[in-house]
Amino acid sequence: MKTIHLIGIGPGNPDQVTLEAVKTMNTVDVFFMLEKAGRGKDELLAVRREILERHVSHPHRVVTAPSPRRNREDPHYAGGVVAWRDERIDVIGRLIDTELEDGQTGAFLVWGDPSLYDGMIESLVLLKARDTLDFEFTVIPGITSVQALTARHRIGLNRIAETITITTGRLLEDVAAESVTNAVVMLDSRAAYHRFAETGHDVYWGAYLGTPDERLVAGPVAEVAPVIDAEIEAGRARHGWIMDTYIVRKPRTEP
Ligand SMILES: C[S@@+](CC[C@H](N)C(=O)[O-])C[C@H]1O[C@@H](n2cnc3c(N)ncnc32)[C@H](O)[C@@H]1O
Repeated sequence: MKTIHLIGIGPGNPDQVTLEAVKTMNTVDVFFMLEKAGRGKDELLAVRREILERHVSHPHRVVTAPSPRRNREDPHYAGGVVAWRDERIDVIGRLIDTELEDGQTGAFLVWGDPSLYDGMIESLVLLKARDTLDFEFTVIPGITSVQALTARHRIGLNRIAETITITTGRLLEDVAAESVTNAVVMLDSRAAYHRFAETGHDVYWGAYLGTPDERLVAGPVAEVAPVIDAEIEAGRARHGWIMDTYIVRKPRTEP
């Protein structure tokens, strides 16, 4: 039997790796790293390697493999995601099969927490269901980019007795802006916060959270949307990529 740990490593700051993650990393024989093509991949891999250097003394190997590319031209979004996910499961299965001996422990370092907009848990569940490999897996939680965002802005995720929704820029387009009380928006490449300029919402925005390049902006959307636009443009120009998350929040109407 082989063991695989999915270890949440936080949103990019080696200080935000939990003690449980560190303990678990020090039992691992092989760390698998799936390299995504495209901008930012070197920096994201470098953070993972820095975390290993800082926190791991147990002898281990690092095995990298290219992660399949998603076909973003596919007009059928869900179908495209499923095909890409299946290809990724093939790659993960091959790594576990060929790079890990029976009785050994492998791990994938997952950005933030494995439960939040990450496909690794589902991939391992589906891989197990194929019944072609003898392995067990565990999930070690990590600090999410959402927690890093709220901590930096010194805000709660919601105010007392309010709802909180976590969504993406794409999904937010189908929601009436007035109906949103608190929404965390991730994976937004379309500046969906602009929709809240007319409704009086506030926004709490953060990019490269937890890294030395962290950027924060907060205020009424109507006032700060151009500031966020400029930050995103500057971040992209400087790094070639951006990772940003924000909360849009309806101002309180009663005391
Ligand atoms: C594929 S999701 C992964 C989320 C991750 N599992 C987590 O727990 O934060 C990637 C999105 O997370 C957000 N994100 C991840 N790391 C971030 C960071 N350091 N700063 C700002 N946003 C981040 C961005 O919205 C990005 O588009």
